[in-house]
Amino acid sequence: MKEHLVITGASGLVGRALLRNYLSRGCPVIALSRKPPVLPDLAPACLPLLSWHWGDVSLPGLGLDPATYVEVCDKARMVFHLAARTDFKDGTAASYLPVNLEGVKHVLALAREAQAPLHHVSTAFVCGDWPGEFQEGDLDLGQHFRNGYEESKFLGESFLHGVMAAASAPVPITIHRPGIVVERNPSAGSGKTFGPFLFLDAVARLRDSAGAKGVAEPPTLRVQGNRAAHLPLVFDDAVAEALVRLAANPESAGRVFQLVAPQEVGNSLLEDAFNEAFGQPAARFAGDEEFNGRPANPLDALLARKTTPYAAYLDLSVHFTRSNLDAIAGAEMLPTPNQAELALAFKAFLAARSQRSQQGRT
Ligand SMILES: NC(=O)c1ccc[n+]([C@@H]2O[C@H](COP(=O)([O-])OP(=O)(O)OC[C@H]3O[C@@H](n4cnc5c(N)ncnc54)[C@H](OP(=O)(O)O)[C@@H]3O)[C@@H](O)[C@H]2O)c1
Repeated sequence: MKEHLVITGASGLVGRALLRNYLSRGCPVIALSRKPPVLPDLAPACLPLLSWHWGDVSLPGLGLDPATYVEVCDKARMVFHLAARTDFKDGTAASYLPVNLEGVKHVLALAREAQAPLHHVSTAFVCGDWPGEFQEGDLDLGQHFRNGYEESKFLGESFLHGVMAAASAPVPITIHRPGIVVERNPSAGSGKTFGPFLFLDAVARLRDSAGAKGVAEPPTLRVQGNRAAHLPLVFDDAVAEALVRLAANPESAGRVFQLVAPQEVGNSLLEDAFNEAFGQPAARFAGDEEFNGRPANPLDALLARKTTPYAAYLDLSVHFTRSNLDAIAGAEMLPTPNQAELALAFKAFLAARSQRSQQGRT
């Protein structure tokens, strides 16, 4: 009987949240990734519902042995494709394509074999550097991309649109485009330092090293960015809940959902939450004019170097529409993270970071 949800990328930030959600509802899940998912907070009663197989989406058949492939297809009632190379290291798409494009093709083949609907997790940043409103129906607007990750995700999603446009799509396909996902409860084992957490980590490092050199009051570091700009932040558990709710509704098939909050999070609110987590003014945004008048000091420059991949995201004006999400899942789905929630997540990240470095010392 086809009861299982199949989730690729189950060991990642969003994958773990989706796993947690389905398992806590009592749904059996087959997780596919190269490393097993780590879920320290999972209720023991949920464990028998989870099976994990090593799988590499860049390989045909995901590199599964033929018997396991058949077993996965026999059991799958729905396939969520989350696996992706998500770093921003390379400027062009080529090195990402084996995972972020070929991987999509291999997972579609699995969904087709299983005759199971496919939920593909893309990203809102298929918009690239598009500066205005970006709607669910938009894809190729002639935009440029900030890095090879964005471009490769665009190519992966474009491939699926081609399949969906064909007269007879092999299985129902739904595209989900999350904004920037923030882990609500980061733990020492979370592993990924991404988005706002990269800034927290870099600032904490610089403050630690200033402290080690006997500097009692490290200066407030400056980050080149626009306080009036905003970011489409969403919490991981809210994205997982939206995916589960949308997947449960057959009307979601053939649609694109932008998994963003009703409002973007302003950079100034983000700065306040950041400093609340540190308990003092640790960092602030400063614009080009200020940096022109007072160039970066060595600490500002080090911070800029450690956070380079994200510099291009600190002056965003794009607005993502979410009419499909509102229509199918309701306007209360994926609420806007507020300052208190962000500060709590940031504090938890800093606590997890110190715990990791204590563990490293013992
Ligand atoms: N985080 C965000 O802010 C965000 C925003 C928008 C969209 N998304 C999308 O959401 C999805 C999940 O992102 P995430 O933040 O959870 O990423 P992540 O934490 O970096 O996790 C990536 C996942 O992909 C798996 N993976 C990578 N290469 C693989 C391969 N060759 N074969 C099989 N699995 C592979 C990793 O597992 P192993 O290393 O164990 O194989 C891991 O489970 C991605 O498609 C991403 O593009 C994320």
